[in-house]
Amino acid sequence: MSCSCFRSSFVQKKETSTHRELEGSYSLDNVRSFSYKELRIATYNFDRSTKIGRGGFGVVYKGILKDGTRVAVKTLSAESKQGVREFLAEINSIANVRHPNLVELIGCCVEGTHRILVYEFVENNSLDHALLGKKTKIPELDWERRSKICIGTANGLAYLHEELKPHIVHRDIKASNILLDKDFTPKIGDFGLAKLFPDSITHISTKLAGTTGYLAPEYVLGGQLTLKADVYSFGVLVLETISGRSSSLSSWDISQKVLLEWAWELYEEGRLLELVDSDLKTYPKDDVIKYIKVAFFCTQATANRRPAMSQVVDMLSRNVKLNEKELTPPGFFQDSNESKKASSDASTSRQITSFPTTITQVTPR
Ligand SMILES: Nc1ncnc2c1ncn2[C@@H]1O[C@H](COP(=O)(O)OP(=O)(O)OP(=O)(O)O)[C@@H](O)[C@H]1O
Ligand SMILES: [Mg+2]
Repeated sequence: MSCSCFRSSFVQKKETSTHRELEGSYSLDNVRSFSYKELRIATYNFDRSTKIGRGGFGVVYKGILKDGTRVAVKTLSAESKQGVREFLAEINSIANVRHPNLVELIGCCVEGTHRILVYEFVENNSLDHALLGKKTKIPELDWERRSKICIGTANGLAYLHEELKPHIVHRDIKASNILLDKDFTPKIGDFGLAKLFPDSITHISTKLAGTTGYLAPEYVLGGQLTLKADVYSFGVLVLETISGRSSSLSSWDISQKVLLEWAWELYEEGRLLELVDSDLKTYPKDDVIKYIKVAFFCTQATANRRPAMSQVVDMLSRNVKLNEKELTPPGFFQDSNESKKASSDASTSRQITSFPTTITQVTPR
């Protein structure tokens, strides 16, 4: 499946220019090209005080451009086997992607060994901070906001999957990649980024210990990357948003179950509302239950039973009745150490134990 789109002028340049020429004055259609100096000035020489966070690809800084625009400057430190041309081709393909629920790429810098992406600055940090952070948790994340975050994220993904041609599989939908604007509009970050690093499955699997819960089993085990792997991750994200708990096992302890496993057990026992974040003092019960069920539809073990994201948008935002008879148990992956601790009689645990677990041997970064 190819997700790149080259503009004809760029392709021509690609064929006739050397790397050096491209590095000096490369052509980008919809994004600005920044010099390293400009970004150094914008971030006070990449000063620690401007550092916002660090992810698998490198460090993110807050920068202020000459015209006063605030930006997020993402320095890519991971080794890319791609040359400048391929890198720029991928940048061009994501530069054209604009949607209110996607973080906008403003520009990039390719100078010497530097590979830097410049994004619009999103005010309220990422969902993991707002929802799960010990110090950064936002108390006023009421149901209205949580529901807006779920629907907005679903809209952004539906756009990437179904409206964009060629479509983009995000590959890494998780709370830290959902940024929140000043009015808590969610914006999906890092779409298309995994393609900059063709080996990025390593990037994702190195984080398995922490983010196991997001990855669709068929992706972890067989490397089958389809749109439905994103749908799965979205389902887990909805559960996190409702429960205020991370899908990562290490961060909480309910009989050592992953969030999805615990949620499914509650569903089977008719105790679904126990999943709801205790910080949510008032909420419309029927809506919350519907959202949890939509999450279950998204995380079903068989990928092709999961809905398309546009269907998810409808399920969440319109008064559609869910056909629960169609719902089958979730599938999930759990690493070997953790699965030993998992209860052996739960229906979902049987699925876990049937999975090979060698993928967790990857060294954490
Ligand atoms: N455009 C942005 N505006 C504001 N903050 C941002 C922006 N992009 C990233 N951040 C912040 O920087 C942090 C690090 O982001 P980064 O994408 O590098 O790492 P990550 O999302 O934790 O992991 P991964 O590398 O797997 O995506 C995020 O948690 C977020 O708080
Ligand atoms: Mg990220």
